[in-house]
Amino acid sequence: MTQDELKKAAALAALDYVPDGAIIGVGTGSTVNHFIDGLAAVKSRIAGAVSSSEASSARMRAYGIPLVELTAVDRLPVYVDGADEIDGGYSMIKGGGGALTREKIVAAVSERFVCICDASKKVATLGAFPLPVEVIPMAARHVARELAALGGRPVLREGFVTDNGNLILDVHGLAIADPIAFESTLNQIVGVVTNGLFARRGADVLLLAAPGGVERHERG
Ligand code: 5RP
Repeated sequence: MTQDELKKAAALAALDYVPDGAIIGVGTGSTVNHFIDGLAAVKSRIAGAVSSSEASSARMRAYGIPLVELTAVDRLPVYVDGADEIDGGYSMIKGGGGALTREKIVAAVSERFVCICDASKKVATLGAFPLPVEVIPMAARHVARELAALGGRPVLREGFVTDNGNLILDVHGLAIADPIAFESTLNQIVGVVTNGLFARRGADVLLLAAPGGVERHERG
């Protein structure tokens, strides 16, 4: 199976976690695109979706999936999204697609985070994938110096502007021993909007697609 076929298998397995009649949260990325394609086939089962990016909104709009603003709801029963890396404690690096801020906001109001991944995303220690950090443009150089002082090698994502009008620094060279503590440390840097560590609010369910099938892991 190709990596894309594995992503699709994980994504379609997540349809089992979509409650009838609910408004659900929908993430961003190539794995989520497969989820949206699957959701389109059963769209009459749900009341609507809160999107985490302009890209996912456009895809769902094209299918006629009703979009709901997050300002119109208090809680969502489930949020389905991919990850760039996930460790054994259900902490993740996200933001490879640059949608980390809205993803973290939608995840924060969701009862259950269902992470959909191919098996290559499972790691022992987070950090081989460069950690995305969304920054206010005028703070980019300041934040880069602070990230370097923490041991990382920040690289500006060239030619990329987030849905929120900000920049992304991709931080290379990290081996994140304590994701919850490091997420909090990064949040203290002035000018950081969001960092791509999803540890304080990690995944609850991991659907991990391998050639032998989709493994279903649930946080204990
Ligand atoms: C986007 C994300 C994605 O979930 C992450 O980058 C994984 O993407 P893909 O499903 O394309 O491998 O965080 O901001």
